[in-house]
Amino acid sequence: MIYSRIIGTGSYLPEKVVTNADLEKMVDTNDEWIYARSGIRERRIAGEDEFTCDLAVQAAQNAIQAAGIRNDGIDLIIVATTTADQVFPSTACLVQQRLGISGPPAFDVQAVCAGFLFAIDIADKFIRSGSARTALVIGAETFSRIIDWTDRRTCVLFGDGAGAVILGADREPGILSTHLHSDGKYKDLLCVPTGVSRNYERVKAGTAYTTMEGGEVFRWAVTAMSDIIDETLDANHFDRNDLDWLIPHQANIRIINAVGRRAAIPPEKVIVTVDRHGNTSAASVPLALDESVRSGRISTGQHVLIEGFGGGFTWGSALIRM
Ligand code: UT7
Repeated sequence: MIYSRIIGTGSYLPEKVVTNADLEKMVDTNDEWIYARSGIRERRIAGEDEFTCDLAVQAAQNAIQAAGIRNDGIDLIIVATTTADQVFPSTACLVQQRLGISGPPAFDVQAVCAGFLFAIDIADKFIRSGSARTALVIGAETFSRIIDWTDRRTCVLFGDGAGAVILGADREPGILSTHLHSDGKYKDLLCVPTGVSRNYERVKAGTAYTTMEGGEVFRWAVTAMSDIIDETLDANHFDRNDLDWLIPHQANIRIINAVGRRAAIPPEKVIVTVDRHGNTSAASVPLALDESVRSGRISTGQHVLIEGFGGGFTWGSALIRM
């Protein structure tokens, strides 16, 4: 049997830090409200000339270096993003060109904040089926570009960044299982209701912004992300005590804490970066994974459950042996 394993991780954050104090100067908000309701202290925002592809390439290069492989050893590139540089070609093709790779398939996956889980699931299946041996999987976003910076209900929550992993074929399983779900009937609760084919005039006017029914999204995120922990553990006949780490999507510390409580996973096993990154959508999980690997918290042989939840709704998880 062939399995996929994570053989390297990388990430990248834009230099510009925007604190809650900075936001106080832009909208009617304050640090106390933002921290109490979301757990966010600061987020990174891409520079005007910095695009999703730039963030993705930096994260990819760090992951490639960590894996100790050559760029031409990569035979699949998937980028999970909601904020592609261009309508087409895909951001994955732009990354491919920047890395000097020619030939292997490169494509984007769009499942908003759950995108990285969808991308990992696909890459794992490519490797298990023998269609690829080494995959570069990236979650990258410049979510700041689809935020209304005059809307205090949304602008305080999001940030920009990128995370990446290299998956390699192995006789020993690294990705133990993946689980994906979507339910399009909730499409209006969290969305940018405009695009190329619909309401394009808003794109031209520069008002293609994220809208969210915060309370309903909150409730759904807690239910979906705690239920999928049970689904993932059951599928692997795992007890929750066998888990070393949980990396939930980083949207709001209250969601993260509620998921941990419902799933009976102690807070010291739950990775949190939302305080410094905000919600970076598809980048949130690989960013948190890379930080935890590099700081030495997550180490080889440990079991990590990663999970995401986003607009659609979409949600997914993976159980990983590092
Ligand atoms: O990636 C997945 C997608 N996103 C999420 O998972 C986010 C899910 N939702 C949430 O995280 C939370 O619902 C929010 C952080 C968005 C909001 O927290 P909340 O505790 O649900 O607050 P709320 O929306 O009920 O608002 C409470 C009050 C309102 O005032 P009134 O109507 O009670 O007078 C808001 O207008 O807080 C007000 N408010 C603010 N005040 C200061 C909303 N945003 C702000 C703000 N600063 N930035």
